[in-house]
Amino acid sequence: MKRKGFVISVSGKGGVGKTLLSALLLRTYLDETDKTILMVDGDPATNLPEVLGVEIKGTVAYIAAKLKDDIQMGRISYDASKREMLEGWIYEILVENPRFDLLAMGRGEGEGCYCSVNYMLTLILTNLIANYDVTIMDMEAGLEHISRRVDSDVDLMLIVTDRSRMGLKTAARIKEVAEEVHVDIKRMVLIGNLLEEEDEHIIRDYANSIGLEYGGYIPYDENVSLYNMKGIPILKLPNNSPSLLAVKSIARRLSIL
Ligand SMILES: Nc1ncnc2c1ncn2[C@@H]1O[C@H](COP(=O)(O)OP(=O)(O)OP(=O)(O)O)[C@@H](O)[C@H]1O
Ligand SMILES: [Mg+2]
Repeated sequence: MKRKGFVISVSGKGGVGKTLLSALLLRTYLDETDKTILMVDGDPATNLPEVLGVEIKGTVAYIAAKLKDDIQMGRISYDASKREMLEGWIYEILVENPRFDLLAMGRGEGEGCYCSVNYMLTLILTNLIANYDVTIMDMEAGLEHISRRVDSDVDLMLIVTDRSRMGLKTAARIKEVAEEVHVDIKRMVLIGNLLEEEDEHIIRDYANSIGLEYGGYIPYDENVSLYNMKGIPILKLPNNSPSLLAVKSIARRLSIL
């Protein structure tokens, strides 16, 4: 059997810096290791490709909807191997880069239960993930992906918060819901973003009070703002950017490199 790769998912309240952390983690792995990486954009808004500077050819949700449609309209013969077909289509939309690949999940339609298609998707994605040393999943804001068990089998969940109460409360709810639905998350770590050093103890104490490990924080980074405004991929940030240095030190502290 293939060895399963290390899976990291990044979650938290809307707009707290999940996509930034996902991109900076990728950059960290590229700079510091020779590991193979799969980036999964789990957010229907599909922002990650632009932040990484890659073009996508399609989304998993679009392909799944097409297969459901084809089955329903009788366009696919009864004995066709639907799983192989679906797998082929997924490999077609997988963006391959020299150093990392990217898969965009896209926006699911959510109506009707095509359990067989969803089941096939789970199998295909599990097999895909096994091909990489590390998979980083940039998740949708909030809790729904936890209750839908989208990222149920992860080695490390990084929950990002800014200095807002709602950010912290969302982190606490994510942990609670994960426990309620018994998802298999091996390690959950709170990461602060847009903090200043004097705020750090508040986030650290909060993490301790809700039983989350504290992983460190990312400061405000002028380069991130500038690159964002100019539309330059975050992956190209200068080596000495404060946010990149912070994520590298977080990754070292968590021993995930
Ligand atoms: N440390 C930082 N320094 C400067 N700008 C930042 C920092 N963190 C986040 N930003 C900016 O804040 C915005 C939101 O960040 P990001 O898109 O990473 O959040 P998100 O949690 O992924 O949002 P969403 O919930 O919409 O997916 C972006 O424009 C990003 O460039
Ligand atoms: Mg995002």
